Amino acid sequence: MPTTPEHDTTQPMRVCIVGASGKLGHYMIRHCLERGYEVVSVCRPESVAKLDEFADRIEIIPGRTDDRDVIARAVAGCDGVLTVLVPWGVHNYSTGTAQAVLDLAEPDARLVFSCGWHISRDGLDRYSWKLRYAVPIVSHLARWARFVDIDDQVRATRRIFDSDTRWTVVRGSDLEEGDSQGLPVWSRHVGDPILASNRTRRIDFALFMVAALTDDELVREAPAINGCATESARAHEHLVSAGGAE
Ligand SMILES: NC(=O)c1ccc[n+]([C@@H]2O[C@H](COP(=O)([O-])OP(=O)(O)OC[C@H]3O[C@@H](n4cnc5c(N)ncnc54)[C@H](OP(=O)(O)O)[C@@H]3O)[C@@H](O)[C@H]2O)c1
Repeated sequence: MPTTPEHDTTQPMRVCIVGASGKLGHYMIRHCLERGYEVVSVCRPESVAKLDEFADRIEIIPGRTDDRDVIARAVAGCDGVLTVLVPWGVHNYSTGTAQAVLDLAEPDARLVFSCGWHISRDGLDRYSWKLRYAVPIVSHLARWARFVDIDDQVRATRRIFDSDTRWTVVRGSDLEEGDSQGLPVWSRHVGDPILASNRTRRIDFALFMVAALTDDELVREAPAINGCATESARAHEHLVSAGGAE
């Protein structure tokens, strides 16, 4: 198990959020600011205005998240990097983003990436018919329309799984909006009973991402998460130890 570098507790934690202008990014900014973290965020130049409400409290670096010069500037001196992996476009945007963060972040930094349940680390996830059949069909059609490339996220996460950095890949269930219900439960494999409800509030997905920065149990894990107040989470509460179910 990787060792934990000491964080200088006299200094606030400095966290970079890559892809901060989206919905998940907004929630992650709020959770980080509530914890007193310094936040530096990267978003596409055309999206900077989406961060107006935070402009006096965070540093904003406009740029494409797969631009290595942009990422090098943003992650310098950061204790943690939260990266939203998106499947948009067909130009290896996610792969380029992930590779830049893996290569350029501080050697001891905690690196936390977001994706969905469709990503499998070891092939042992057990998917519903919807995920097994619908996702490949939709992803094929979307790629054909040059709109979304889900395989790009798959390639991005392969690189992360092969990396010896201090990474965590958080795999989100279906999402909904609403007030926080608390830290989601997690398990190593989709198909585990505790995940059956397949529903997490987006605010709590962000909470899990931010909490992972300081949770060494999650280093080199790919937790699949589910809302803690869902039926399946409550029914299998006894399986949860140290935040994760086996
Ligand atoms: N949506 C779901 O149901 C769901 C379920 C499970 C997991 N997830 C995961 O959750 C994370 C956030 O997903 P979300 O759906 O909630 O989206 P989101 O947080 O609103 O983020 C969307 C991101 O995509 C970027 N983006 C949009 N169009 C783009 C383009 N053409 N090229 C490059 N970047 C583009 C946005 O940047 P701009 O602000 O610059 O447009 C923003 O950073 C993702 O990692 C996703 O895989 C989502």
